[in-house]
Amino acid sequence: MNITYYGHSCFGVEINGKHLVFDPFITPNELAKNISLSSVKADYILISHGHEDHIADAEALAKLTGAKLICSWEINVWFASRGLTNIHPMNIGGKVKFDFGSVKAVAAVHSSGMPDGTYGGSPMGFVIESSEGDFYYAGDTALTYDMKLIGDYRKIDFAFLPIGDNFTMGVDNAIIACEFIKCNKVIGMHYDTFGYIVINKEEALKKFERSGIELKLMEIGQTLTI
Ligand code: NI
Ligand code: MN
Repeated sequence: MNITYYGHSCFGVEINGKHLVFDPFITPNELAKNISLSSVKADYILISHGHEDHIADAEALAKLTGAKLICSWEINVWFASRGLTNIHPMNIGGKVKFDFGSVKAVAAVHSSGMPDGTYGGSPMGFVIESSEGDFYYAGDTALTYDMKLIGDYRKIDFAFLPIGDNFTMGVDNAIIACEFIKCNKVIGMHYDTFGYIVINKEEALKKFERSGIELKLMEIGQTLTI
């Protein structure tokens, strides 16, 4: 599996030759100014919730690539009204097979209004299962006991977790989340993009290390193979 970081909570994950992009927020992100949207490959765009910092480039990227959007029912209605036709709506608890593997929508404790104030349904996370490995993409969420269901459900190889605090869980709660999901390999997200979520990265790395968990803080534009 190849993972490319596009900043904030946006990652490209290549699985079985298919390109998944999570929560595209690239062109408005000053830290990602070296990434051009036209260089981003996408067969699927997964959207955790309706906030601007997760969907800003979804419409443009879908139109550039023809990628299929995977999102809540309400976000599907919103994008359909803007002319997108290739959308697969889901809701929490559902699991769907695609050609790269399967997607299970799981609970996130957050909010999900669209940028124009339209209700975006419930925010979600995703558990991806594939022949190349399994992982959890948490989206924006607080620490929640529901994460124990993920730990009981499936042995995941790694997890994308928010660590920026203020709008989501921070480092200390993300470490507890790792116990709940039974995972000791984390890729951090949702930090440093705005003043509210700037973190001390050295301290974060130390805290995870002390807990026996590997934390990866990827450079924007970096690709790693897991
Ligand atoms: Ni959010
Ligand atoms: Mn966010």
